[in-house]
Amino acid sequence: MLLITGGAGYIGSHTVLNLIENNYNILIFDNLENGHIETVDTLLGLGNVKFVKGDLRNLKDIDNLFSSYNIQGVIHFAAFALVEESVKNPGKYYINNIYGTINLLDTMIRHDVKRIVFSSTCATYGEPLYTPIDEKHIQNPINPYGYSKLAVEHIMDDYDKAYELKSIRLRYFNVAGSDEKGRIGEWHEPETHLIPNIIKSAINESKTFNIFGADYDTKDGTCVRDYVNVLDLAEAHRLAYEYLLRENKTDVFNLGTGNGHSVKEVFDTCEKVLNQKIPVEIRERRAGDPAKLYADITKAKTILKWEPKRTLEESIKTNYLWESSSKQEEFINV
Ligand code: UFG
Repeated sequence: MLLITGGAGYIGSHTVLNLIENNYNILIFDNLENGHIETVDTLLGLGNVKFVKGDLRNLKDIDNLFSSYNIQGVIHFAAFALVEESVKNPGKYYINNIYGTINLLDTMIRHDVKRIVFSSTCATYGEPLYTPIDEKHIQNPINPYGYSKLAVEHIMDDYDKAYELKSIRLRYFNVAGSDEKGRIGEWHEPETHLIPNIIKSAINESKTFNIFGADYDTKDGTCVRDYVNVLDLAEAHRLAYEYLLRENKTDVFNLGTGNGHSVKEVFDTCEKVLNQKIPVEIRERRAGDPAKLYADITKAKTILKWEPKRTLEESIKTNYLWESSSKQEEFINV
């Protein structure tokens, strides 16, 4: 079976959905610190899925898992992933994201499992020297989150040399959208991400949406990001895992759309898609935010044969569907 660490989280759960639809046998491992048991319950009812609650920082948890199940490969999502929080609490990021991954890799080696797809990030590039950013761009992170993911990329190279552990590192840009049927969705507590925050302000107009910084060196002064739909991203994970099975070699791919949108442009698109005015204010810059990040995705298109299909508008619509669903209701009115 295929082990999905962090499978109860946002990107992990949407990838599980894709894998279920492609008849994979799935084992979700998650500590439920950021993931949700409701998401797991939904996934358990949809296919051949098992769930084990556990923590990568606890070697016993992960060792028991590999002793109890016949695991053939791993897609590793489990991590803390908030840029600003990582600036304020770096130890949390280094211990969980690096030490937790070392426990996972060592356990994989002990159990002779040598294929892993890893959630890396464009935050490993830092402030870009050029855009669009390709995989050869120098990696010079400007926040602990980016450093923690870069460290894991280096560790995976070392494990390849030492033990022939093969890894595909997927460097995501910004991820958006939710399951089109509204079964699972983008659900963070607290919510810090752009599109869910705009939608929360659209649903609850007493909650003004804050733009963090309008004095960046970009087309309209707000930060530019590359928003890739989570279902497209999920598909890329399946293709990457199948590539790893076929080719058995370590590699790295950027995953985005190739297009940059500013915070103001995303906000305007939300107003248009939702057909309403949303309360908004300009605030101070947020710590750790680079001005402009968007991807060159030629490599993923060429080698993985991956093509992002869904638009920003579709991501906003499906996020709105999720936010306004019953599962989210209790959070909307707080
Ligand atoms: N933003 C706002 N107001 C908000 C929320 C966000 O103006 O209420 C701005 C941010 O300052 C930033 C942009 O919108 O300029 C995107 O912010 P997000 O929080 O949605 O996403 P980040 O770019 O900070 O981070 C996300 C993931 C990281 C990943 C990164 C890659 O959380 O894990 O994308 O760019 F590394």
